[in-house]
Amino acid sequence: LSAAIQAPRGTLDVLGEDAARREAVEAHARRILSAAGYHRIETPAFESTELFSRTVGETSDIVQKEMYTFTDAGGRSLTLRPEGTAPTCRAYLEHGMHKLPQPVKLWYVSTFFRAEAPQKGRYRQFWQVGAECIGSGQPEVDAELIVVLAELLQAVGIRDTELHLSSLGTPETRAEYREELIAFLRAHADEVSDEVRARFEQNPLRAFDAKDSATIQTMQHAPKLIERLTGEDAEHFASVQGLLDEVGLAYTVDPTLVRGLDYYTRTVFEFKSQALGAQSTVGAGGRYDGLIAQIGGPDTPGCGWASGVERMLLSSGEIPVAAPVVDLYVAVAGDRAVPRAFRLACDARRAGLGVQLELSRRALRRQLTQADRLGARYVAIVGDSDPAALREMASGEQAELELAGVIPTILRGSRLT
Ligand code: HAM
Repeated sequence: LSAAIQAPRGTLDVLGEDAARREAVEAHARRILSAAGYHRIETPAFESTELFSRTVGETSDIVQKEMYTFTDAGGRSLTLRPEGTAPTCRAYLEHGMHKLPQPVKLWYVSTFFRAEAPQKGRYRQFWQVGAECIGSGQPEVDAELIVVLAELLQAVGIRDTELHLSSLGTPETRAEYREELIAFLRAHADEVSDEVRARFEQNPLRAFDAKDSATIQTMQHAPKLIERLTGEDAEHFASVQGLLDEVGLAYTVDPTLVRGLDYYTRTVFEFKSQALGAQSTVGAGGRYDGLIAQIGGPDTPGCGWASGVERMLLSSGEIPVAAPVVDLYVAVAGDRAVPRAFRLACDARRAGLGVQLELSRRALRRQLTQADRLGARYVAIVGDSDPAALREMASGEQAELELAGVIPTILRGSRLT
């Protein structure tokens, strides 16, 4: 006997109760995002590798070591999408959405792929609910997106989140600050971890992300980008904060907030949950005013977020989910009754009822147990000729009637006896 095939490392099957909870998350996302004017978008599961290397960034962890990249038969380098912002912007550009009234608001719930070391809340294929607002650089866009994400997290039962907020300014401010930070890290090179020392010349900002205490302590004294913001950037950041204050949404300005993607400009934010352990960020995002130009389009501002579905499920308590309604369980009394039972189940569904047909040819007594377990309102016991029996489960009342009378009786909801 050969070994049984298992799912690839870092992936998960969605089953039973978990599938129902996910559907509830999706339903909340659809309701909240549609009400805020977002339209659903779906993009391909793979894209040109270049789309991500140009935007997410050559020096980011994602591009350097986490992408599932392959060459297709035509010699093209393709990558399973590690995130949804660059693909959404690619679609915006490719379909001329700049001709629509601006901004264009799009949302998705899709799978993404990153070859990360799997742990609680971190998978190689995962789901995100995401929202992108493209075509306006105003601070009310950033604030609205943040409030909408807070509302979604609240709706799915995540109560203990903390909102961290920062600003990365413009690429120019960042470039100057980058040199300043590299100089600081050179001066303190013997105080930081080997990993940080090896990479800071390439990507000094990631030093703020380090988890070891020596680096954390050193970085507390490092210059902060937020102290170097120029006039308009500082004003934009102040406006975003003012709008959040306006609606009483609490946040912490966190100058050490680093995002793992290079396309951000100005506002960045993360919602963290204590329930999650090491992978504490539930949802995160920010502004990306340079992204569309990076992929060959006109200068177009944009802002958005994505929230991990698995992490939302891990950090939420009970999400109220409605169990599927079973109006009728069709029990089969003997093999020769299968065609009549089958017809009744199909007809009843067409009449709008929630119907489960006995599919395992169990003994009748065990069929009734199964119907009870599913919470069926009625059970029809169908033999190979009339009459059939119809039992109302709550009252235990049972009546004999013609097969043709079963559906009308249930639809009328009339008493059986
Ligand atoms: P991100 O921070 O890379 O941002 O991912 C957003 C969220 O996706 C994370 O906070 C987390 O909940 C979830 N996530 C990320 N990686 C994994 C993983 N390996 N396993 C499980 N969940 C994961 C982005 O992806 C940006 N596109 C967000 C954005 C949209 N920025 C602007 N617009």
